[in-house]
Amino acid sequence: MERNRFVRVLREARQTGKAVAAINILNYNTGRAVVLAAHRANRPVILQPSVGTVRRYGVETVAGMAGILREMTNVLVVLHLDHCMDEELAFACIRAGWDSVMVDYSGEDFQDNVKRTRRAVEYAHSHGAAVEGEIGVISGVEDEIVREKGHPASLGETLRYLQETQVDAVAPAIGTAHGQYKELPRLNFGLVEQLKGYNVPIVVHGGTGLPETDFRRLIACGAAKINISTALKKVYLDSARSHLADAKIPPLEFDRRVEEACSEAMEKFIRLFANEDIRI
Ligand code: 13P
Repeated sequence: MERNRFVRVLREARQTGKAVAAINILNYNTGRAVVLAAHRANRPVILQPSVGTVRRYGVETVAGMAGILREMTNVLVVLHLDHCMDEELAFACIRAGWDSVMVDYSGEDFQDNVKRTRRAVEYAHSHGAAVEGEIGVISGVEDEIVREKGHPASLGETLRYLQETQVDAVAPAIGTAHGQYKELPRLNFGLVEQLKGYNVPIVVHGGTGLPETDFRRLIACGAAKINISTALKKVYLDSARSHLADAKIPPLEFDRRVEEACSEAMEKFIRLFANEDIRI
């Protein structure tokens, strides 16, 4: 059996026509919320802290936290680093036993993107870890990365990128964006479908705010991993604000309620991506 959890859950997703939710947790509470949601849904899940979260708590602490959270459930819990342009940090995560990292050199020209991604793939594979890469440019704000303008990926470019980098999963720019949408994007479902025939899992970034129908269609076209970040941040802050209105709320009860709100919201995505009949 494939030992790497990231490769394993994405392979299973492709084989079963489902997608795995990859959620940008912020701390222990949100990590616990997501793992309990995955446990209830009986689905694997990918915890993918952003670089800012990892810098705040430390590579080893986040790895230790994932280990503790894994003990709460039998479902597979993958630890994946999201959008990293800092090679040293990505390599430190790999050495610390993280399952996978996303290296994002999509802001560079094609050859540099390939060269730097390829180097990460070689390093990761020699340590039993996996790599996700980005081709084309996905717009919006994700943690430290701010890209006002996107650039669509093409089939030819994506295939060359796959062949030259040997990444374990690819995020092609298909029209989604990080953050809240001002208007609904027009997605390149065709590219996702064309890539389905090649042996690599497709990742969709910018999941927050997409309509349910787009999610279902992306999964039918072959998307195997769908990223959710802004939606978790929003429910975390909104529920915190609303519970703080009760001036007498004990801190642990406050944490419990915020965790519950986050967990319920994330469970919907996890189940929707498993093709369950869920409204979001
Ligand atoms: P959203 O913040 O739009 O959900 O995007 C998440 C993402 O793609 C993280 O890489």
